Amino acid sequence: MNLGNNERRMLKGMLSEPNQNWTLDQILAVTGWDDQAHVAGAGMGLQEAGMVEVKEYTSRFVTLGEEGIRAAEEGLLESRLWDWISNEREENRNMGSLLSSGFDRSETGPGIGILKGLGVDIVSGNLVFSDSEEISKEIDRRTDFINSISNSSIESSTLDKGLISHFSSRSGLIEFEETTTRTWKLTKSGSSADESTLIENQLIGELTPEMIQTDSWIGAEFKPFDVQAPAPTPTGGRRHPMQSLIERIRSVFLEMGFSEIDGDYVQSAGWNMDSLFIPQSHPARTMQDTFYLEQPSKVEVEDSYLDLWARVHEHGHDTGSRGWGGTFDNEEAQRALLRTHTTVNTVRHIAENPDQPSRVFGIGRVFRQETIDRTHMPEFHQIEGIIHEPDANLPMLISTLKTFYAKMGYPDVRVRPAYFPYTEPSAEVDILWKGEWLELGGSGIFRPEVTEPLGTEWPVCAWGMGLERLAMLILGLDDIRQLYQPDLERLRKMPLL
Ligand code: PHE
Repeated sequence: MNLGNNERRMLKGMLSEPNQNWTLDQILAVTGWDDQAHVAGAGMGLQEAGMVEVKEYTSRFVTLGEEGIRAAEEGLLESRLWDWISNEREENRNMGSLLSSGFDRSETGPGIGILKGLGVDIVSGNLVFSDSEEISKEIDRRTDFINSISNSSIESSTLDKGLISHFSSRSGLIEFEETTTRTWKLTKSGSSADESTLIENQLIGELTPEMIQTDSWIGAEFKPFDVQAPAPTPTGGRRHPMQSLIERIRSVFLEMGFSEIDGDYVQSAGWNMDSLFIPQSHPARTMQDTFYLEQPSKVEVEDSYLDLWARVHEHGHDTGSRGWGGTFDNEEAQRALLRTHTTVNTVRHIAENPDQPSRVFGIGRVFRQETIDRTHMPEFHQIEGIIHEPDANLPMLISTLKTFYAKMGYPDVRVRPAYFPYTEPSAEVDILWKGEWLELGGSGIFRPEVTEPLGTEWPVCAWGMGLERLAMLILGLDDIRQLYQPDLERLRKMPLL
């Protein structure tokens, strides 16, 4: 039997009188404990082990109420009135002299009622009675009752039932308290326990290097860890939930064999859009959607890229495409803006490493002219990535995204056909959340119009997902702004990721 220290101590104590019904106080005395909780806890443990039988009794105790305490000190009202009556000459025993006798008005009214109950009558204002001895006796009985409970609470079953019911009908004299008492008795198995096995082990709270080196931990008993123990909630620093989420996403992609890339917020329209075969007349390029900069207003782009994009946009160059037609505007391509998506980072990565197969990802801020509401902010994050290698293909793209979201805790992913100017095929990515499909981002295989000017002929799987949307799901938020308001109270309560 694997008993804890407290159980051992209690059992050992009880074995000194194996047949006794032990009360709480007796167990406290024999164990030397001063905490009743030890007895209750160890008693429960021994009961579960079948070594002790616990009996519970509920008892009602009677104590004095506020009026009762006063009665114990000054005498019951009837007793004081009776004293007054007994000391007064017979002709003066009337209501008039009672009222001027110094009794409080609040007492005379109820007092007369009580006296009537004892056999005193009022006949034309005079207080009359026949059996004064009987009245004295009853008053003494009541006084004794009050005095008997004046110092401690008394179990109600040992008191006179009639007097209990009498005093409970009068206000403030007596009160009741219910208490549960227990007794503990050894069972057969408990009383046959072998005392020599009941030596208490020293409980170890913390394992130290010394204990490991000296082997003293062998056979030691460890203090059980109490996860219910009250503990203060630490309000020290912690990572912002968004930062934790970014860290988690980062480690998932690293785990999947991807490397991280980065890029600047300020970009040319050329790299942000023209390199992606987004037509210069595309509505998303207007001032309403994109933050163009005044300082700097221009970011220079190498002529070789401007030339290539111009050819691709105007007639498709040798990509097999017919292009968008019109005239490519080099000035437009060199306008400075805040990047509108992180796809600019991945295309630049390919341009810088056209001959190197790569699997890269990046998590970064992007900027769009959005009206702020529950689900929109002008500044948000994207999770971007590419697989650039000779055999890259659509199933590879889909399984990569599925793996990523499964690792994030969303195993149900579906893709739907979509359109982006820079991918073919293109797919929208949804995840299943509480029975609903939620759109989290776009993906596809870069078109030749994109990859050729970058200097590669390998296919490129590409995706760009919203981070805030995912954060809202994971953190259980219904308003994107909650992620960025400096409400420490709320931030502290957000789950650790
Ligand atoms: N850049 C797109 C967006 O911002 C997402 C995307 C990335 C789509 C890569 C296809 C390929 O929504």
